[in-house]
Amino acid sequence: MEKGIQLYEGKAKKVFATEDPDLLIVSYKDDATAFNGLKKGTIEGKGVINNTMSNALMKLLEEKGIPTHFVEQLSERETLVKRVSIVPLEVIVRNISAGSFAKNYGVEEGIVFEEPTIEFSYKNDALGDPLLNGYHAMALGLASKKELETIRDLSFRINGILREFWASCGVDLVDFKLEFGRDHGGDIILADEISPDTSRLWDHGTKTKLDKDRFRRDLGGVEEAYAEIMARVQRNLEV
Ligand code: TMP
Repeated sequence: MEKGIQLYEGKAKKVFATEDPDLLIVSYKDDATAFNGLKKGTIEGKGVINNTMSNALMKLLEEKGIPTHFVEQLSERETLVKRVSIVPLEVIVRNISAGSFAKNYGVEEGIVFEEPTIEFSYKNDALGDPLLNGYHAMALGLASKKELETIRDLSFRINGILREFWASCGVDLVDFKLEFGRDHGGDIILADEISPDTSRLWDHGTKTKLDKDRFRRDLGGVEEAYAEIMARVQRNLEV
């Protein structure tokens, strides 16, 4: 599949057209940002790791019946995906308190929840991705009631699958962000990426952070953490 014109450049990926109007090529960059782009940097090798890891996880999800945009990995950094119209919601699932949950509700990080939580934020950089609930999303015309139900159902199923997979890697899945899109038939499918950029992943034994929080919080050992988490995935999944 030939790469056509660049349609879009985001903070971590570029998107290109192909000769097939229903397919796009995504190219993963090493660029890293945090705090709505305020903090900028580079994580050497991140694009290759996130591309490979996200594809391996999407394949695992597909095998378990979750519809995703994944079609085929083309190279270290490039993947063919189904074109979707993105639902402008960041869907965050949490199993353990951390990040904005700990900050907003005044609790420590590391509390294991009895039940996972889900929240939405409005994908809108100019507004700083504000939190909203399902009624707000419907009022703004971002998604229908039925689509929100599908998104919630898929997100919790994805959490179950990923939690079990990460546990097999000796990793606690603390929380993660998902994005969904509508395919050409209007069905809701998983899009974007699943990676250490979009998930909090703690070593089960030591609780060492093996994700982008090392960059966000200037903890050092960023590249090493990405390499370590990739090695664990490679031991447990076909990549
Ligand atoms: P939070 O605790 O900062 O709200 O983040 C929750 C999860 O969402 C965490 O795994 C990191 C991920 N995330 C993104 O993927 N993109 C973002 O812009 C933000 C703020 C968080």
